[in-house]
Amino acid sequence: MTWKRICEKSDIAENSVKKFNINGIPILLVNYGAGFRAIPPLCPHMEEPLEESGIVVRCILTCSKHLWAWNLETLEMQGETERPLKTYEVKEEDGAIFAKKYSGSRPYYELDVKGDDVVIEYLNPDKKTVAQGYRSAQIPLPGDIDQTQKALRIIFTDHCKAEKPKAPF
Ligand code: FES
Repeated sequence: MTWKRICEKSDIAENSVKKFNINGIPILLVNYGAGFRAIPPLCPHMEEPLEESGIVVRCILTCSKHLWAWNLETLEMQGETERPLKTYEVKEEDGAIFAKKYSGSRPYYELDVKGDDVVIEYLNPDKKTVAQGYRSAQIPLPGDIDQTQKALRIIFTDHCKAEKPKAPF
């Protein structure tokens, strides 16, 4: 993973969002006054473009479509929000903002348990998936074991494919 320069600090006003294209990967930069966050540009709810629907007030990013919201300082979900915000690592250096970009096609996924469901969030950091923000599946527990195994097989097959050691020559 390498750091990629996004812009000058002064290129983005306080309490605003701005979309950038970094080597073909769209990144939404958020200036929330006390700091910056770099996130995929689509709302984790219904994939609305946050550069249009995102409002930043007092460190809170709210998607104006259905009012999902996140505290940008702590990343805590606010109110009825049901999915966390994905973020890239961000740093400031010499008056510029840098984000750590995923490199290669290493899949990334998270398993979570919410109530009686297992939620699988799968972030495959290629251009297409980053543009979509995330993919997720919700599997009821104890649920249909065949469905669960099928979903896990797809994810782990992909994961193993990417992790397979390369031949030395
Ligand atoms: S699409 Fe953003 S809150 Fe629904």
